Amino acid sequence: MQTVQDAAALRAAIRGWRAQGQTVGLVPTMGNLHAGHYSLIKLAQSRVDRVVASVFVNPTQFGPNEDYARYPRTLAQDQAGLAEHGCDVLFAPDVAAVYPYGPQHTVSLHVPQITEVLEGAHRPGHFDGVATVVCKLFNLVQPDLAVFGQKDFQQLKVIERMVRDLALPVKVMAAPTQRAGDGLALSSRNQYLSEAERAAAPLIHQTLLQMRELIAKGHAWRVVEQAAASRLERAGFVPDYAAIRRAEDLGEPAEGEQKGLVALVAARLGATRLIDNLLFD
Ligand code: PAF
Repeated sequence: MQTVQDAAALRAAIRGWRAQGQTVGLVPTMGNLHAGHYSLIKLAQSRVDRVVASVFVNPTQFGPNEDYARYPRTLAQDQAGLAEHGCDVLFAPDVAAVYPYGPQHTVSLHVPQITEVLEGAHRPGHFDGVATVVCKLFNLVQPDLAVFGQKDFQQLKVIERMVRDLALPVKVMAAPTQRAGDGLALSSRNQYLSEAERAAAPLIHQTLLQMRELIAKGHAWRVVEQAAASRLERAGFVPDYAAIRRAEDLGEPAEGEQKGLVALVAARLGATRLIDNLLFD
């Protein structure tokens, strides 16, 4: 596997593949890779000839009081893992390669509506940073396919909208959430959890399962949301939201609507903020 750090080296590698008529997939990541990320690589490999993984901790998607500085940076480990999983190129740019005018002076993308709720409401500007960096990565790699984890469900929807609205020539594919044996969704942030917090964390997935069950039994979605938030609070979580939404656009469902829904939870456990979701169909 080749590791490249700038656009010229990246394009040189891709040019060779394109000359042979090969298709290219991109798996954008912020590094500190785990089995969840490697499942995205595997999915990409099943669809395209060549896979590029990017590792870039993107400053513009972190708020001023978020964990940008302490976000785990484990490039050597990621490089070894990607090579082991048969990735073709690791693109690991520095901030200047992605933001030549600096992160504060970048052209910025805003995807309206869908970014205004849930994560967007609790992390102002987060999705502008995500959309901006993903669009830059698409321009740099010009992939046929890009794979994103379903764990960041709203992010996936934001990127799908950006791609459609800007007519970007890339197919976006969602990969199922990978979970530990006790149901906790794999995430780089799980390592911030203390032993006691790690033991409590699977309650988020259990709560999502219960939300799905209650909706299937015909309970009103607002009541289900309240019950879920209370359950999490009683167990020591501080929920930002426990929500039932239409999967398509994250809008509020109509009364009695049961099809095409998703349950989403974001909650703090100690100093760690965890998110997860569950599609109903
Ligand atoms: O999901 C992530 O890891 C990031 O938000 C992404 C898509 C790599 C953009 O920085």
